[in-house]
Amino acid sequence: MPDSLKQAIDRVLPEIVSLRHDLHAHPELSFKEYNTARKVRDILGRLPNIRVLPPLLETDVVAILNPERDGPCIGLRADMDALPITEELDIPHKSTTPGLMHACGHDGHTATLVGVAMVLSEIATALPGRVKFVFQPAEEDGGGGGKLVERGVLEDPKVDAMFCLHAWPTQPLGSIAVRTGPVCAATNELRITVRGKGGHGAYPHKSIDPILIAAHIVTGLQSLVARNVSPFESAVVTIGQITGGAAGNVIPSECAMRGTIRHYSPELGEMLREGVRRIAEQTALAYGGQAEVFVRPSYPALFNDRDMAALVEEVGCDLLGRERVITTESPSMGSEDFAYYAQRVPAAMFRLGMWPPDTEAYPGLHHPQFEFRDEALPVGMRMLCELAMRFLSRRAR
Ligand code: NI
Repeated sequence: MPDSLKQAIDRVLPEIVSLRHDLHAHPELSFKEYNTARKVRDILGRLPNIRVLPPLLETDVVAILNPERDGPCIGLRADMDALPITEELDIPHKSTTPGLMHACGHDGHTATLVGVAMVLSEIATALPGRVKFVFQPAEEDGGGGGKLVERGVLEDPKVDAMFCLHAWPTQPLGSIAVRTGPVCAATNELRITVRGKGGHGAYPHKSIDPILIAAHIVTGLQSLVARNVSPFESAVVTIGQITGGAAGNVIPSECAMRGTIRHYSPELGEMLREGVRRIAEQTALAYGGQAEVFVRPSYPALFNDRDMAALVEEVGCDLLGRERVITTESPSMGSEDFAYYAQRVPAAMFRLGMWPPDTEAYPGLHHPQFEFRDEALPVGMRMLCELAMRFLSRRAR
């Protein structure tokens, strides 16, 4: 890595740290990232060699470095939304919005990419191509990435490859992890309404108990992964919520369930959706009730492109040292709407370590005590800057 780039990162770092603290203190939910987007837009708008585009949705910021230049175009993406979680950290930049916090590190992702834009804008004339910065809304809820792709974010100029990073709490600070192929699972939304016949809890024979039916459905659904999925494939069926009834001595007429179904192969997804429907509907019928099943595919699975993952690994080894590049990390059953970009162009997401040395463990993603580590900001910036420079110079040859 050229010393000038390292110096450029060091120069902008104080501003990027305070931007992250500002974003952390002012979290916004999916598709409500108005102030976050405004802050990003303001900074990018004053950088040389960058054109900020009009929003494709309401709260996205897309900007192009070297807009007038020909040549390859690399896309770099950050997500900006926070979560409906009450922060349990006592820090100066604690969330000022009750019930909301940046528990998935998207404040750090956004600040990192702003820093990358600042650094690359300084050396834009030396870059043999373009960079498209994509600050997207609604990664957590609503698939903002998918909506941006539908609106043409990968076109004009056409993006040749796409990269992003995600904070990773189980991995040492200063390290990255990348893998080829499966990275994050496909998800499905699941809602089941069980209908029976309400009545007095003392006279169950005069009712059809939807709570009992729901209990049998939950148990039955567990047979899908245990008995219908190959032991060599990965899948999850979880019921995370059951609501029904209002008193201990009343049998309600209805009971509602919500859950998630996760998998990698599309065929397996088809089988699981069909299986959930069959088990819920037929179980309810068996007990004299009815089940209405709503099940719909949500985020697709994220697969890292082999060449792009190899480039991340190469850059990581060169910048951080081989010992700080983890390549054996297994895929996750978590989901990531970066998958929508990766369906269209060669792409890779890598994980950025958050776990400080000499500590037992670090709070997990979506935990009320999780925070993106400031020490990881320059690591992420170096990685993304160098990925952009190396990708463009090789592709432009
Ligand atoms: Ni996240």
